[in-house]
Amino acid sequence: MSLSRRTFVAGALALSGAPLARAAEPLRSLAARQGIEFGCAISSRHLGEADLMELVSRECAGIVPEGEGKWASLRPSQDIFNFAPLDAIAGLARGRGLALRGHTLLWQHSLPDWLARILSDTPERAEEVLIHHVDRVVRRYGGFIRCWDVVNEVLGDGGLRPGPWVDALGLEAVTIAFAASRAASPNTRLILNETAIESAAGPHAQRRHALLKLMETLLSRGVPMDGLGIQAHLRCSEPIDQGELRRFLSDVGGLGLDILITELDVNDAEVSGDPERRDRVVADHASRFLDVVLDELAVKSVYCWGLSDRHSWLHHHPAGWRADGARTRPLPFDAGLVAKPLAGALARAFAGARWRP
Ligand code: G3I
Repeated sequence: MSLSRRTFVAGALALSGAPLARAAEPLRSLAARQGIEFGCAISSRHLGEADLMELVSRECAGIVPEGEGKWASLRPSQDIFNFAPLDAIAGLARGRGLALRGHTLLWQHSLPDWLARILSDTPERAEEVLIHHVDRVVRRYGGFIRCWDVVNEVLGDGGLRPGPWVDALGLEAVTIAFAASRAASPNTRLILNETAIESAAGPHAQRRHALLKLMETLLSRGVPMDGLGIQAHLRCSEPIDQGELRRFLSDVGGLGLDILITELDVNDAEVSGDPERRDRVVADHASRFLDVVLDELAVKSVYCWGLSDRHSWLHHHPAGWRADGARTRPLPFDAGLVAKPLAGALARAFAGARWRP
C-alpha cells in the first residue's frame, strides 16, 4: 500500500475523532476486511479468567497455545501423551468459533528429560520417536488445527541451531517433521517458524539470508512447507530495517509461500519514561514493522504472543526485565484489558492494508 493511502487512513481516523488508541471495531474484523487473520497466544492456565477470554473472543479470530502443543507439555513420559491442556484450548476455540493454530512439533527447547536418552541413541530411534509424536499429535486434531508451526527456530547464527534434534538428525529432522505432518493431516498448512529476522542488526540480516537459502533448499527437495512464520518479538531498542525487511518478504512471497506473523509483541525494557510514553514508543515501533509487513500480500495473518500485559513471557525472562523494576508493556491491551496505543497501531495497519485474496 502506498504511503499516501496509509497517511490518508491515519488522517481519517484522526479526523473522525475516533480515539487513535483504537477504533471501536474489534481487531479481528478490521483485519478480516483485508483478508488477514488476527489472533493471539493463550495459556491453559488463564482459561478461567473470564474477562480475558471475553476480550480474546471479541478481538481475535484465532488462538494458538503458548505451551500446550510442545513436547514438555504433551509428553510427560515416553508412553504417555497428555492432551488435556491442548484439548482445553481446542475446546475454547470450538466453543467460541475461533481458529486454532498449532505450536510446535520440532524445537530444541521445552523437551522432556526422557527424550534426551533416545535422541542420543541412534538416528533411527530419533526418527522413529519424532514420526510417532508428529503422527499422534497432528492426527488427533486433523484439520481443526488448520495451521501448524511444524519447526520452530531451527536457525542459529551460523547455520542450523545446535540442539538435541539437529545433533541427532541434522537437517533431516526438519524434512521428517514436515513429511510426517503432511501425512497426518493433508489439508493443514505447514509452517517453518523463525525468530530474529526483523531488525537492522547484523545477526538478523545474516539470518534473513540463511533462512531464504534454507527455504529454497527445502522446497527444492520437495518438503511440503506451505509458509514462513515470522515470530516478530520486536524490541524498541532494535530499529526495523524497513528496506531489507521489505525485500526479504518479497523474496519469500516469490517462493510461493504464505507469510504469517506468529508471535508479535514489542519489548519496551529499554524504553525510559512513564507508561504513557512507553506505550507510544511501542506503538510507533510496531507501526514501522506492520506498515512494511502488511504491504506484502503474502502476509496472511498477524498473531500476538498474548493479548494483554497481564500475562507475557517477558515478565519471566531477563530480556523483559527493566532496570526500574517495572513490568514490560509489550501487548495491545493493558493488564486491566484497556486498549493501548499498540491496539490503535494494529487497527490503523489493518485499516490501511490492501485486501488479500
Ligand atoms: O508448567 C511448569 C510449572 O509446572 C513449573 O512449576 C514451572 C517452574 O518454572 O515451569 C512451568 O513451565 C514453564 C512453561 O513456560 C509454562 O508456563 C517453563 O518453565 C517455561 O520455560 C515456559 O516458558 C515458555 C517458553 O516459550 C518455553 O517453552 C513461555 O511461557 C512461552 O511464552 C515461550 O514462547 C516461545 C515460543 O514458544 C517460541 N518463540 C519464542 C517464545 C518466547 O520465548
